[in-house]
Amino acid sequence: MPLITFEGIDGCGKTTQIEKLSDYLKNKKVNFSVFREPGGTKIGEKIREILLDSSNNNMDEKTEFLLYAASRSQLVKEQVKPRLEVGEYVILDRYIDSSVAYQGFGRGLGKRIVTLINEFATDMIYPDLTFYLEIDKETFEKRMRNKDRLEAEGWEFMKKVMEGYNSLKGTKRFILIDGREQKDKIFQRIIEELEKHFAL
Ligand code: TYD
Repeated sequence: MPLITFEGIDGCGKTTQIEKLSDYLKNKKVNFSVFREPGGTKIGEKIREILLDSSNNNMDEKTEFLLYAASRSQLVKEQVKPRLEVGEYVILDRYIDSSVAYQGFGRGLGKRIVTLINEFATDMIYPDLTFYLEIDKETFEKRMRNKDRLEAEGWEFMKKVMEGYNSLKGTKRFILIDGREQKDKIFQRIIEELEKHFAL
């Protein structure tokens, strides 16, 4: 059944929207699962620790990307594929597009190689729908101040990441959402799109 992903730069608000969507689907008695990337499996959570460990500050960009891809591959095999096969909804907090944006554009590895390795890692399992929550500099800085995240990169890096997301805007599955709007208004948009695409 459907694979739905949420994407955006740090502070875009996707985690809040995923929580709202989870409540909504629970109410509707829809069978669904949510996973976060990197992580979502025992092996993936260990990879996540390596990636988010601030003492690993000398990590090579290629190493970084391959670790994200490794976590993704494990998640698809262990969780995503089997659940889609039995007709469950699978919701992912970040997926292939995060690597295109962060590693391909942010770190400069390029879109071509990132897409190729993404396809290798996922056996070409693409999302049916991707919600891209777009925010601007002002919103980013406001939300990052409140979050006090050590690993948070600055706006210059996020600008490059956004270029990556911009490069995906023509894709059919890619739904652009204004992440600066009120939480409830954003959620309403998401539900409208879901109802349009799936029998909810
Ligand atoms: P996390 O704390 O989960 O951030 P968020 O709540 O914003 O998703 O950390 C995930 C970080 O990993 C985030 O900064 C984006 C980055 N990331 C990549 O660089 N490439 C990827 O492929 C993925 C999945 C995440």
